[in-house]
Amino acid sequence: MDLSTVPVKNLTPLSPLLLAPMEGLLDHLLREQLTPLAPYSMAVSEFIRVTDRVLPKRVFTRIVPELLTGGRTQAGVPVWPQLLGSDPSVLADNAARLAELAPPGIDLNFGCPARCVNRHRGGAVLLDEPELLHRIVAAVRRAVPQGIAVTAKMRLGVQDRGRMLEAAQALAAGGAAQLVVHARTQRDGYKPPAHWHELARIRAALPDLPLVANGEIWTLQDALQARRESGVQALMLGRGAVADPWLAARIQAHDAGLESPRAGWPELAPALLGYWRRVRQAVQPKHQAGRVKQWLHYLRRAHPQAEAAYQGLRTEANPAQFDGLLRALLREHALLV
Ligand SMILES: Cc1cc2nc3c(=O)[nH]c(=O)nc-3n(C[C@H](O)[C@H](O)[C@H](O)COP(=O)(O)O)c2cc1C
Repeated sequence: MDLSTVPVKNLTPLSPLLLAPMEGLLDHLLREQLTPLAPYSMAVSEFIRVTDRVLPKRVFTRIVPELLTGGRTQAGVPVWPQLLGSDPSVLADNAARLAELAPPGIDLNFGCPARCVNRHRGGAVLLDEPELLHRIVAAVRRAVPQGIAVTAKMRLGVQDRGRMLEAAQALAAGGAAQLVVHARTQRDGYKPPAHWHELARIRAALPDLPLVANGEIWTLQDALQARRESGVQALMLGRGAVADPWLAARIQAHDAGLESPRAGWPELAPALLGYWRRVRQAVQPKHQAGRVKQWLHYLRRAHPQAEAAYQGLRTEANPAQFDGLLRALLREHALLV
């Protein structure tokens, strides 16, 4: 069977495949383009920063408009808003406000390496404070109804992996229902490799906690290697899912013993145009072209033809000119009739 002919909504992933949060890269507009193409079991939104006050609901619905449509993308993939902060009681109050919008779950960010975030004490820097991690998850867990799962996403540590197990144990003891582990420390940044084998230690320490492996999964081969090294089946895909929108479908086809989807560059034309249409409706004109260029920049990694398209569009910022150029390019590539 050729999976690309099966509507995505009819496919249930054998092992969970999650779409990663990526602030500034993967927002609701791109989620709407990516989620119909591959069988994600869930997506996590880009982080919503919590400092010292309870955010109005419109902030949550601006970043996660899926909250207005049952917490799912149009393709039916549940989207978990992600909170980032360091104050247990403020995070709990925000989670309670968020719960009024009935999200499928709430994720907590303990993986963000950005310096500006850490100056406000949020993200990965908290991994050195397991006791605080525990208090945060427990406070959020207490603040939201039982039907709304609270999950967490962490790195292997701040400077090194010395407190990795303590951090994971603190999150689990606080009530995290699932833990995504980006297999690098904050210090590692985004430098390859990802140390997937470290997840095997977390799994041994916390055998009952659903674990998800994340980091540096760009191809089916990477996915299989990440699973082999970590012993964890569930995977979260970030930049790899943007570079190859069918990566999750390829992994699922492999799992099911089915033929890999043949989808590639030619099938991307409608997705690119669909995304451009969404961007033109929702984004300020001066930022519109940049959004499509950013996606093409990633697509180059999995689809060599995207390079020519990227080079052809790189210098154009005017939306009307960009529109003409994009259509001409896709026509030239015989992707558009
Ligand atoms: C541009 C960008 C923005 C990100 N924003 C977030 C975020 O908002 N929340 C979060 O937990 N992780 C964030 N991450 C980390 C990713 O979710 C993921 O853990 C990381 O990219 C490793 O996975 P990958 O190699 O599959 O991309 C971001 C990563 C990138 C590249």
